[in-house]
Amino acid sequence: MSLQIRRATPADADAVSAIAVATYTETFGDSYPPQDLQAFLHDHYSPGPQRRELEDPRSAVWLLEDAGQAVGYLAAGANTLPHADAGADDVELKRLYVLASHQGGGHGARLMEAFLQWLDHPLRRTLWVGVWSENFGAQRFYARYGCVQVGTYDFVVGDSRDLEFILRRP
Ligand SMILES: CC(C)(COP(=O)(O)OP(=O)(O)OC[C@H]1O[C@@H](n2cnc3c(N)ncnc32)[C@H](O)[C@@H]1OP(=O)(O)O)[C@@H](O)C(=O)NCCC(=O)NCCS
Repeated sequence: MSLQIRRATPADADAVSAIAVATYTETFGDSYPPQDLQAFLHDHYSPGPQRRELEDPRSAVWLLEDAGQAVGYLAAGANTLPHADAGADDVELKRLYVLASHQGGGHGARLMEAFLQWLDHPLRRTLWVGVWSENFGAQRFYARYGCVQVGTYDFVVGDSRDLEFILRRP
């Protein structure tokens, strides 16, 4: 059965949280001491904060499902990336996560296309994306959609400070 994409609602908070925790841990988990990782996942990716994001009228979240089971998601919302040129109505791609078991099959691209369709209608809006400076695969992925590095900032997990690139699609 092919994978389906649909807009998520607050009722999907548990599923979205589970994907965020699993993908973040399998992708970046080795980079942080376990207690810092757990605190970060609890503060940002547990069902509570994920539900608040889903309830935010400026947020939009797309869920990727395999036979009704969530295997990926894309979350967008009001931009919070620190850049002098950011405008009040600009949109930030907050998270794009596909479980490792389902990566490399074009599903990330399909989530991105559903999001861009929303972003560009009725008017094309400016898109901001924060990406880890060493996540070369994701940087290649975003470059395909016209995202260009325009700045940097520090992403804080516990005592770790990671250099992040700020990308913009004008
Ligand atoms: C980035 C991500 C969403 C792409 O989803 P996907 O379904 O694998 O993407 P697609 O199959 O549509 O496209 C594959 C492209 O994604 C990029 N990519 C990024 N990370 C990748 C990974 N771990 N494995 C494979 N491709 C990856 C590459 O550009 C790849 O293109 P390539 O064949 O030229 O190398 C997915 O790999 C993922 O969730 N990675 C872990 C979390 C992450 O890094 N998210 C982005 C944080 S900003």
